[in-house]
Amino acid sequence: MEKIKIINGNKEYKKNNEKIKILENINLNFNSNVFYAILGESGIGKTTLLNIIGTLDNLTDGKLFIDNIDISTLKDDEKAHLRMEKIGFIFQDFYLNPYMTLEENIMQPMFINEKYNKKMILDKTNELIELMGLSHRKKHFPKELSGGEQQRVAIARALANEPDIILADEPTGNLNKENEIKIFEILKDLSKNGKCVITVSHSDRVKDFADVIFKFKEGNIEIDENK
Ligand SMILES: Nc1ncnc2c1ncn2[C@@H]1O[C@H](COP(=O)(O)OP(=O)(O)OP(=O)(O)O)[C@@H](O)[C@H]1O
Ligand SMILES: [Mg+2]
Repeated sequence: MEKIKIINGNKEYKKNNEKIKILENINLNFNSNVFYAILGESGIGKTTLLNIIGTLDNLTDGKLFIDNIDISTLKDDEKAHLRMEKIGFIFQDFYLNPYMTLEENIMQPMFINEKYNKKMILDKTNELIELMGLSHRKKHFPKELSGGEQQRVAIARALANEPDIILADEPTGNLNKENEIKIFEILKDLSKNGKCVITVSHSDRVKDFADVIFKFKEGNIEIDENK
């Protein structure tokens, strides 16, 4: 079964009576255990597509299924619950809470998860901090962390509720080569461990790690056969 399925997906924005077409009748499937990269020019619609898959934005027409659930049938609170359970976002600008320490930022999404009690939250937080190699920075605030460290906090936070789907929007945008490779290795490992990982990237280096490359071109998305 496909993890994520888009059927005849269309997306357009209306601005000042002008229509901007982002997606035109696209059909896409994403599976678990696979690392996908989406490449394409600036402004083509990559973030829009990630937001649609992450149920933060809607298709204008067509269907999105996650685990065979037709997202268009869900109410807002049901969508929020599905996001909490199934989806981890890594945003381009991290969106860490500046008033919370590193460990508090990672804990935050677990507070709304009824599956976790206090002890489980602490254990999970420590496990993620160790996984990301951040143990020496637990009590630091985001502004006291390097770009690469902030990025790893954002990844740890995305993993907090053990989602099956990881959506990453240019997760290495601000990183040097060494840190970029580290992040791609982490995403690759997550996919090998069963997650469906979808990454938007401008970096050609992602091709060394991704299993499937999608090229986004004016409303259309094609698999890059050269991979
Ligand atoms: N809420 C909105 N209303 C109107 N137009 C929008 C809206 N959101 C995005 N757009 C337009 O849709 C197009 C695609 O935007 P999107 O952010 O998805 O691009 P992108 O491929 O992620 O670009 P980048 O690589 O620069 O991040 C852009 O032309 C943008 O101006
Ligand atoms: Mg974008």
